[in-house]
Amino acid sequence: MQHGGLIERLPPPLLKLTLTAARLAGRSGVKVYLVGGIVRDLMLGRPCVDIDLAVEGDAVGLALQMAEEMGARLKVHRAFGTASLKMEGFNVDLATCRNEIYRHPGALPLVKPGNLEDDLKRRDFTINAMAVCVNGPDRDVLTDLFGGRRDLSQGLVRVLHDKSFQDDATRMMRAMRYEQRLGFKIERSTVRLLKSSLDMLDTISGDRLKNELLLWLNEGHCHKILRRASQLGITGKLHPALKWNRAMSLAFRRAAAPDVVKATPLYFCLFVHNLNEEELYELLGRLNLTGSRLDLLSNQSLELANRCNDIARPAVKRSKIYSTLHEYDPVAVQTACCYAVNPSLRRNLQLYLDTLRHVKTSLGGNDLLKLGVREGPRLGSILNKLLAARLDGAIRSKSDETKLAHRLAGL
Ligand code: CTP
Repeated sequence: MQHGGLIERLPPPLLKLTLTAARLAGRSGVKVYLVGGIVRDLMLGRPCVDIDLAVEGDAVGLALQMAEEMGARLKVHRAFGTASLKMEGFNVDLATCRNEIYRHPGALPLVKPGNLEDDLKRRDFTINAMAVCVNGPDRDVLTDLFGGRRDLSQGLVRVLHDKSFQDDATRMMRAMRYEQRLGFKIERSTVRLLKSSLDMLDTISGDRLKNELLLWLNEGHCHKILRRASQLGITGKLHPALKWNRAMSLAFRRAAAPDVVKATPLYFCLFVHNLNEEELYELLGRLNLTGSRLDLLSNQSLELANRCNDIARPAVKRSKIYSTLHEYDPVAVQTACCYAVNPSLRRNLQLYLDTLRHVKTSLGGNDLLKLGVREGPRLGSILNKLLAARLDGAIRSKSDETKLAHRLAGL
């Protein structure tokens, strides 16, 4: 773990932005700090693309000056006293140091301007509550009021105080992410607090739960996060039937194979696959996902699971596999494939994903019209038959297709 010269470890565009902030703020004696996740990641030597700067003064005014001087893209959120700057694919968020008071669990906090100490005290975990000053005589000085450096070196995720999960229950979900991403452990009394605060998740809006769940699914080790969150009772609070099991474990292992496209929608479908229709409906409602693409995909996966028997035999025709699966999104088919227990079903699903879904006829509708087939449902049915014959290997060339089209059309 590193500390000295942390600022210099920033990638060049971020270093430039940070030093510009330091210089401009320094003119009026305002202190600026690198704060939160960036300090943690710099100390661990992890890559960084986004940084947070805490300003003991007017963050928005400083961001405006920076944008003007550097030609960076700027977005200001006046109501929150924050601003974001973008340059060369890197992102810097600036915020005035603030004090947050939680009036009741689940509510958004009351925010007042404060100093660095206030700003660190409002944070989730010790490893996220450190700051490094970037200007003035304290440049490069680390502020670590809660033992974040010690917890980083011991690999521990620890809350700052006993009410942390009550103030903001999404922190329980954040803890899962940091633990698995960094290969850390949640510290023992933090685990105890987490278990006794689970009901607080009921106070969180569907949108916030959804965002945290999607952040889980975006992580490299999302299966580990889901398993741990299930063991600790967090997923059971999203829906009582949402629990990790052995079938899920195998399905996620299969989804990790190199030929499987890694994507959040697939992981979502895999995770909710054991729910029945009613349970899925309830979960999607709770997460404010009704009508979304994830709603569509997870319902397709559920429906397809009930149709897989049709294509489970080893000798099933390729055209039958195609006609059964082509109405479903490939994500739903991939979900079924990861869960398939029967080896021939699995092979057939994989064959569809790798090959059959890409098969096309050489002749299109216009070609058939030119051959003399009349417009109408008959034309569609001939095209389907041509495709089926292609899929089953009964015809192989354009001239085979033309002959068959003539025959089918009675020309
Ligand atoms: N934070 C918090 N409580 C929350 C959310 C955020 O205390 N519920 C604080 C943490 O100090 C965190 C900082 O706000 O470090 C920024 O939040 P975010 O960008 O979500 O986290 P990062 O630490 O930057 O982590 P990540 O690498 O996951 O983006």
